[in-house]
Amino acid sequence: MRVLVTGGTGTVGSQVVQALIERGVEVQVLTRNPQKAAGLPIGATGVQGDLLDPGTVRRVFTGVDGVFLLNAVSQTEAQEALMAISGMRLAKVPHVVYLSVHQVDTAPWLPHFGAKIGVEAALKGSGLPWTILRPDNFFQNDYWFKDVLLQHGVYPQPIGDVGTSRVDVRDIAEAAAVALTTAGHQGQTYDLVGPEVLTGPAIAVAWSKALGRPIKYGGNDLEAWEQQALTYLPNWMAFDFKLMYQHFQAHGLRASAEAIARQTALLGNSARPFEAFASETARTWSP
Ligand SMILES: NC(=O)c1ccc[n+]([C@@H]2O[C@H](COP(=O)([O-])OP(=O)(O)OC[C@H]3O[C@@H](n4cnc5c(N)ncnc54)[C@H](OP(=O)(O)O)[C@@H]3O)[C@@H](O)[C@H]2O)c1
Repeated sequence: MRVLVTGGTGTVGSQVVQALIERGVEVQVLTRNPQKAAGLPIGATGVQGDLLDPGTVRRVFTGVDGVFLLNAVSQTEAQEALMAISGMRLAKVPHVVYLSVHQVDTAPWLPHFGAKIGVEAALKGSGLPWTILRPDNFFQNDYWFKDVLLQHGVYPQPIGDVGTSRVDVRDIAEAAAVALTTAGHQGQTYDLVGPEVLTGPAIAVAWSKALGRPIKYGGNDLEAWEQQALTYLPNWMAFDFKLMYQHFQAHGLRASAEAIARQTALLGNSARPFEAFASETARTWSP
């Protein structure tokens, strides 16, 4: 079986590549960057191209049995996804697994949520066999906060007090690999979530335990968060994420018991808890 992974050099996609290789799949990874292709694991081959390029989408989908479609948050993510869907239609790809967002339809005005709502609709109308994965906030986002956690004792992601069912990207990767390599997942949408609801203060407590030192939640002040974020994010992304955190603070992003049961059946086991991720990460951060 041959699967093309888009985003295969990134956070989720690299784990999807690994999970597919472990299942004996021949993996192709689309990348814009030939240097990244050189660093792929054994079992994966790089395919150079850009989803915004018609030549790429005419070429890369031919002869594959499945595609994992992930589009980075960007101002062109919908265009990239629609170009991919058009290319996959031309190549008559037998199955597409698309990475969306948990409860994406609860905030259709958010640029990176709204883009995915449009892409989900395009996929459903494309005639291609599809599966949609809708993950919650990733545990692995916390890698970005290593310095502020270790140097200032602060957990800065303004998740709020309602809580989200954050998820480990390795569980997302497992779900993608299962959906691509076993029968019965076409036409299905799966929420991908962790086993517990995590508020901002609860995440700070988990990091305190894992790091063995006090970690304080940075709080819910989104004006302050945006000012800080503008020092490392482009302004359109800081705007989008600020509104996303406002949505999380007002409504959360919490999984239903039914969604958790469905995911457990898909994976064949429970999702990884945050505490395990935090302890494992803290060990790799200790000098
Ligand atoms: N972070 C979260 O908590 C969270 C939660 C739910 C959903 N999501 C969704 O997850 C996605 C991000 O996943 P990630 O964090 O794994 O991404 P990432 O690490 O930023 O990786 C982005 C990938 O996209 C590829 N890429 C970007 N532009 C491309 C183009 N024009 N053509 C081909 N490939 C292109 C990059 O490949 P090269 O650089 O090698 O070309 C890279 O492999 C977003 O859609 C986001 O909304 C995120």
